[in-house]
Amino acid sequence: MHTLTAKFQLSPNVTRLDVEARRIAEIRQPGQFVIVRRGIGAERIPLTIADADPAAGTIALVIQAVGKSTRELVALAAGEAILDISGPLGHPSEMISSGRALCVGGGVGTAVVHPIAQGLHQRGVEVISIIGGRSREWVIFEEELRRLGQVVVCTDDGSYGRKGFVTDATREVLEAGGVDIVYAVGPVPMMRAVANLTRPFGVRTIVSLNPVMVDGTGMCGGCRVDIGGQTKFACVDGPEFDGHLVDFDLLAERLGTYREFEQQANTPCDAGTCRVGLTHPTPTPIPQS
Ligand code: NAD
Ligand code: FES
Repeated sequence: MHTLTAKFQLSPNVTRLDVEARRIAEIRQPGQFVIVRRGIGAERIPLTIADADPAAGTIALVIQAVGKSTRELVALAAGEAILDISGPLGHPSEMISSGRALCVGGGVGTAVVHPIAQGLHQRGVEVISIIGGRSREWVIFEEELRRLGQVVVCTDDGSYGRKGFVTDATREVLEAGGVDIVYAVGPVPMMRAVANLTRPFGVRTIVSLNPVMVDGTGMCGGCRVDIGGQTKFACVDGPEFDGHLVDFDLLAERLGTYREFEQQANTPCDAGTCRVGLTHPTPTPIPQS
């Protein structure tokens, strides 16, 4: 069991849970993730380790509450517990050890960029972060990233920072020159756009992919992605890949596979009328042990 030590609302639908997981806090590296199961019978949810405090023995998990399982997870209160946390999983981020790195975070993806920026900063790399949200209340991890270097904040509606997508600011920084590597994490269209921007500049670009995951050990094939014409499993070969080689069309298509089931789970229907063959028993609390 992993007790929640703290809970913070970062944006209207993004929550940070600080959870006891001493061993993971000690050995995790930037880019790695865990798979969380709230209770017996609960869905397995992959989550990036957004931060860790080895002294306190806690890790920070950042959750966008979009479906039934993520809503149930963020409903937990400090003092309650998660049944199991597997990890750290996945390859650590590819790191440079000098020069200048541009870290681009879109929405909740900013939480995934944070540990990468931490790792780069620790190695003495100059970090510039460009982070974006729909409007002011959707911008997350700004304060944490300001401790690691320069931060440019963008909002779609101009309510905070500069108006526009993160890609607008990214283009300007690339044109100014001197960027050795780019990391981009966020919605698929954003990562695709960043990769397309950096390609003509010949700047290596790492993206973190979030396909559907089940086991997280390379056994089920649920997380397969196409990288330069080769099938890779994001859980064991990634989750970070060369953005210039990712088949973003296939990724977007596969991410939509279960959309109808997700919508159905969000709107329970009357018995006998379910269009996608789901049963909707009366919700019962998930046992914790
Ligand atoms: P969002 O839609 O609010 O977008 C966040 C920011 O990304 C925007 O403010 C903008 O700056 C940028 N952006 C969005 N679309 C863009 C485009 N077409 N071109 C250029 N820039 C663009 O994001 P959100 O709601 O916080 O994130 C939701 C998405 O992020 C989900 O699809 C989720 O699956 C994905 N996600 C990805 C990862 C990952 O590891 N790659 C992690 C968590 C979430
Ligand atoms: Fe099953 Fe990656 S999650 S192979």
